[in-house]
Amino acid sequence: MANKILRINSSLFGNNGASTQIIDNLVEQLSAKLTHVEVITRDFSTQAIPHVDGEWIGALMTPEQDKSDEQIAKTQFSDKLIAEVKEADYLVIAAPMYNFNVPSMLKAWFDHLARAGVTFKYTENGPVGLMADKPVFVVTTRGGMHKDTSRDTEVQFIRTFLNFIGLTQIEFIYAEGLNMQDNKEKALVEAEQQVKQAVATV
Ligand SMILES: Cc1cc2nc3c(=O)[nH]c(=O)nc-3n(C[C@H](O)[C@H](O)[C@H](O)COP(=O)(O)O)c2cc1C
Repeated sequence: MANKILRINSSLFGNNGASTQIIDNLVEQLSAKLTHVEVITRDFSTQAIPHVDGEWIGALMTPEQDKSDEQIAKTQFSDKLIAEVKEADYLVIAAPMYNFNVPSMLKAWFDHLARAGVTFKYTENGPVGLMADKPVFVVTTRGGMHKDTSRDTEVQFIRTFLNFIGLTQIEFIYAEGLNMQDNKEKALVEAEQQVKQAVATV
């Protein structure tokens, strides 16, 4: 059985994104530790993730036998995103900070993943995630410095969301101050060290 790594590139800059380059390095190191590796990549800069909208929720709420072709296509797209996460053994997510949160397409991807009865359910004791837990690596790149401040709602949001669907084994890697004078190189070296430490946990 192959070890499946699902790589999520959410930088606007595609392969040139700082977060993309760090996760590429992480995926390379992780792949070197595993046998029979299969890497599945979603690059939002080339494959846009549509925002969930009225037609999408309408499609989900329409019984299977009554769905139009368009509704079937909408549901199948979301189903595929969920299946990719379910089938992955490892998730590697690039999460640059854009306007104090995740890139909007990463939020859209999360929106597609949150499906009542499929990836989470409510019980009398509160919500329960239905995804089988697996290691998740999240690389967050920032122009400024935000870690451990009240401004860093991004990391808190990502953790809350992933926990909600059942994913609790999360390693965060930070590259901060990338747009601050003379700081970029140091931040990238520190990120590289964090990548090594994170991969060593596998
Ligand atoms: C649209 C946009 C919004 C940004 N918003 C923030 C921000 O709120 N805080 C911050 O520290 N940096 C911000 N930045 C800087 C990025 O976080 C930084 O350039 C980071 O390296 C981007 O990662 P990437 O190259 O993987 O896309 C922003 C950059 C862009 C393009």
